[in-house]
Amino acid sequence: MTAFIEDHRESYIQTIRINRPDKKNALLPEMYLAIAGAIDSAQKDRNVRVTVLTGTGDAFTAGNDIGDFITMADGKGAAIPTQGNAPFPAFLAALLAAQKPIIAAVNGLAVGVGVTVLPHCDLVYAADTARFSMPFVNLGIVPEAASTVLMPAMFGRMRAMELFLLADPFDAQKAHQLGLVNAIFPAGQLMQEVMAIAARLAAKPPSAVRATKRLVLAHSALVEKAIEAEGRTIDVQVRTPESREAMKAFKERRPPDFSRFD
Ligand code: COA
Repeated sequence: MTAFIEDHRESYIQTIRINRPDKKNALLPEMYLAIAGAIDSAQKDRNVRVTVLTGTGDAFTAGNDIGDFITMADGKGAAIPTQGNAPFPAFLAALLAAQKPIIAAVNGLAVGVGVTVLPHCDLVYAADTARFSMPFVNLGIVPEAASTVLMPAMFGRMRAMELFLLADPFDAQKAHQLGLVNAIFPAGQLMQEVMAIAARLAAKPPSAVRATKRLVLAHSALVEKAIEAEGRTIDVQVRTPESREAMKAFKERRPPDFSRFD
């Protein structure tokens, strides 16, 4: 277990809180594993009927830790690869296997996997201050978590491509228009509202809630295939000189220069 992930269970509600605020809750391999472990164990816990996923401070999560991408490109460790029980696949597998509903409370900044995780949640609520972006291409890599399949289906191809390729940040209002977010609340009231919704869900007949989720997720074979294809592509892309330039530029706090790449 890592101190960067909190798992609090009370009144049939599990709250998983990403708690690395000084790094905008960027996710390290051990954090993916801790979230996966928390979700997995909640499935067997009779005292959990619903999971709430949120972040500490002004960020939901700034996505995968950039330093970890650099480590991966150097071949010293890997968060993303599809094989075995690597942390990122384990995190996605836990989300896909969860029978109990998951509610995301997007309390602020959501970048990369902070956005691609949302279609794997059953209800998504955002603070009015939340900002979203998917800068995968800017980093020389590609979107993950089956977002290349789920998001065109959710938003339409053009809107999904705009978010993937131009990768501009967008606000909670746009996320709501896209159907990525169920509702927006004033930042100071978000958790209170989400916990009230979670309590409503926890009071419903639990097996009917689980069976409904199971039926809605019946398409997951396609999702699993997309996760594998994306993972393989990221594994290649993250080692390219253009991706290394992008990651290095982030670390050096300068704009990247892709002019020399084909
Ligand atoms: N990985 C590692 N560290 C990260 C991070 C990430 N994904 N996102 C933020 N941080 C760190 C910063 O390096 C900084 O650390 P430092 O104080 O030791 O220098 C700290 O978190 C605060 O970030 P900062 O950039 O100063 O905050 P900001 O409010 O100006 O900007 C972001 C916030 C999220 C817009 C900006 O940090 C960013 O673009 N991060 C990268 C997001 C990203 O590309 N994620 C991967 C997606 S695939």
